[in-house]
Amino acid sequence: MDETAESDFTHEALIHDLNNVFETITEAAELLSADRRWKTLSATLCRSVKRGKRLLGFIPDSTPNLAAIVEDAIQSVTDYCIAVRKPRMRFVRQIPPDVRLPGSDKDWERVFVNLFLNAVQIMQKPGRIDIVAQQIATGLSITIFDNGPGIPEDILPRVFRPNVSTKSNRSGRSGLGLHIVALIVKKYSGRVTAANRERGSGAVFTILLPDQ
Ligand SMILES: Nc1ncnc2c1ncn2[C@@H]1O[C@H](COP(=O)(O)OP(=O)(O)OP(=O)(O)O)[C@@H](O)[C@H]1O
Ligand SMILES: [Mg+2]
Repeated sequence: MDETAESDFTHEALIHDLNNVFETITEAAELLSADRRWKTLSATLCRSVKRGKRLLGFIPDSTPNLAAIVEDAIQSVTDYCIAVRKPRMRFVRQIPPDVRLPGSDKDWERVFVNLFLNAVQIMQKPGRIDIVAQQIATGLSITIFDNGPGIPEDILPRVFRPNVSTKSNRSGRSGLGLHIVALIVKKYSGRVTAANRERGSGAVFTILLPDQ
């Protein structure tokens, strides 16, 4: 067996085995849904499994619509907040309904989930996340800003590099979220920048995508 075939098989095998994990969670969620008290939790588990399946490519991609992807990402992050008992965030969208993104919807969901997750993980009280999309002369601009503490100035210049993190419970796997965001945006010939708000506190992420 050549090396490529072997690594492909490893990937396939991993997906196969993860599917078994998803099956178990789905079955458990169905059992829970029989009890009124656990219906909401059961729905959260089912949505998380669906997201996992989408990430792994079990669910075919559809043409990415920005507003729809942002809604899915908000749902995922709201599920997360409820599950880990984090304060819920208010999401304010200014997104024209017909904006299409290039490529695959699962890529873009990863971008927004990682950006929203960072904001909710850093905020200790209920906060606000704004998502503003607009067409500009060179393409599409998407700005995501929050009213949290802002990005620490010492890590701001290298925040998209892997393993840059202020998370205290470092498992050795932190500091990848923004790197993933940058890789995906770059894949579609775009650019992402990070800054802190000039007025008040909070982080601002700007994604610029050229017209396709
Ligand atoms: N919205 C934000 N507000 C304040 N700081 C932020 C924000 N987003 C990111 N950061 C800072 O940037 C760091 C790197 O973010 P990144 O998503 O790459 O890694 P992480 O969240 O620490 O870990 P991981 O995403 O791998 O779980 C964070 O640890 C945090 O200090
Ligand atoms: Mg992160």
